[in-house]
Amino acid sequence: MLSLNLFMIPRPRQAIKWLARRPGRDYPAAMPAHDRLLIIDFGSQVTQLIARRLRELHVYCEIHPAQRVDDAFLAAFAPKAVILSGGPDSVTRPGSPRPPAALWRLGLPVLGICYGQQAMMDALGGRVERGGGSAEFGRAMLSPAGAALDLLDGWFGDGPEQVWMSHGDHVAALAPGFSAYATSPGAPFAVVADPARRLYGVQFHPEVHHTPSGARLYANFVRIAGFTGDWTMGAFRDEAVARIRAEVGPRGRVICGLSGGVDSSVAAVLIHEAIGDRLTCVFVDHGLMRAGEAAEVVGMVRDHFNIPLVHAEEGARFLSALAGVTDPEAKRKTIGRLFVEVFEREARRAGGAEFLAQGTLYPDVIESVSATGGPSATIKSHHNVGGLPERMGLKLVEPLRTLFKDEVRALGRELGLPDRFVGRHPFPGPGLAIRCPGAVTAERLAILRQADAVFIDQIRRHGLYDAIWQAFVVLLPVRTVGVMGDGRTYDHACALRAVTSVDGMTADVYPFGHGFLAETATRIVNEVRGINRVTWDITSKPPGTIEWE
Ligand code: XMP
Repeated sequence: MLSLNLFMIPRPRQAIKWLARRPGRDYPAAMPAHDRLLIIDFGSQVTQLIARRLRELHVYCEIHPAQRVDDAFLAAFAPKAVILSGGPDSVTRPGSPRPPAALWRLGLPVLGICYGQQAMMDALGGRVERGGGSAEFGRAMLSPAGAALDLLDGWFGDGPEQVWMSHGDHVAALAPGFSAYATSPGAPFAVVADPARRLYGVQFHPEVHHTPSGARLYANFVRIAGFTGDWTMGAFRDEAVARIRAEVGPRGRVICGLSGGVDSSVAAVLIHEAIGDRLTCVFVDHGLMRAGEAAEVVGMVRDHFNIPLVHAEEGARFLSALAGVTDPEAKRKTIGRLFVEVFEREARRAGGAEFLAQGTLYPDVIESVSATGGPSATIKSHHNVGGLPERMGLKLVEPLRTLFKDEVRALGRELGLPDRFVGRHPFPGPGLAIRCPGAVTAERLAILRQADAVFIDQIRRHGLYDAIWQAFVVLLPVRTVGVMGDGRTYDHACALRAVTSVDGMTADVYPFGHGFLAETATRIVNEVRGINRVTWDITSKPPGTIEWE
């Protein structure tokens, strides 16, 4: 099934892989105008962080799984430098993944990390050994050894450097031409290099926060490799506009499902800049939005940017379809089905588009190398518009597919979207329906909407909004007894949920202070008729999920 997410929030892993493997969408697909760095992925959990660190340095890079990078791919991609990621396999195992042989003949600067370092040593005549007593996991202290190394410029100013290790195997003998430049108690070859050939290997992970000077190491590497830092949002905008024009052609028409989220809105504004009114946006208003949200989206897209927009107000239809539906999956499926029906109808009415715009982001495109190889379990069926392009015979336009979330926000600002909009918390496709365990009724939605608005107002007043990934109220399907004034109340209870996260895949509870919580509870009970008790959800993900349903 093709998962077409009009709500641009991280989605189940299977769908991600499916998207990435669509035939005909193979790389290299990026921007020849930029110096490019290739990250060959051997399956480390933190490979994406390497790309993050490089993008922060304005270096354009792409991640590709080792299995796909052969000599021909390398030649076509034409990188200016290569990074070999870590990975769970062992180079001592026959058949374990390797960089392509041509890599060592091209004279490119190469940085090998953990497994990548071992693969480099193994390929160039060194020796790697399994496990033994030298496995290291977690923090380690690194000390300089031998001469100074350009890769470590700025390191060791205050003595040993903290790094983060995660390795079982280790390099036992260096390849000819290499020397060691730093050691840790468990890794005599923690940093190795042949500086004349610009080949570097580190046993630790410089991309994670637990290696505090890691960003400097990457900056040194890209400087050594001769990158100029030409990856800016202004440049991206111009190139993306040119690419969209080329893709859509002089007469092509595009339809874009607007969710109110940042990704679809930024995609819409960018496409509009490229093809003007040959873009039509469809906003299916299912009546499950937060307070003022629908008006804000419509106002921004139609009135501020003057983009043709169909606003399908379908709240009543969704509500009647949801009547009596209390099972979370049944809710999600009902909403997904109706959404597709309405979208299809409105798209047809808008007339004859050949392209469907989608705000796919880079983390959704990266073909991850799963350590287990198996698909992950479906925890929730996300509200995505499955199968639409095939059914409607549409081709996809995905102008954000090389960007990370924060880059999309930067692009949004570059395009003139208001800050308040660009920085908004993600919101799930099925909307408030999945924050309303039990029956979804107009009355319960109204109570939830009000309580949510108070909570978000509190968060903004206390200056916490940007420190939180997502915050919302859940209306519980229980009534509790209270006392207000001199009377008894028997009203709804609600829960506050606020988490920090980088991608929605894992999350920590935001640690509100007691004063904030007490003030918020008082405001909600006083200001929202129908709620007389406030609780706080302090579950991380896992084991909880962010949304309650
Ligand atoms: P969970 O609840 O799975 O949520 O921990 C992770 C992130 O995904 C959002 N979410 C959705 N986004 N369609 C979406 O586009 C959906 O059906 C959906 N369900 C959850 C959720 O808000 C969080 O950011």
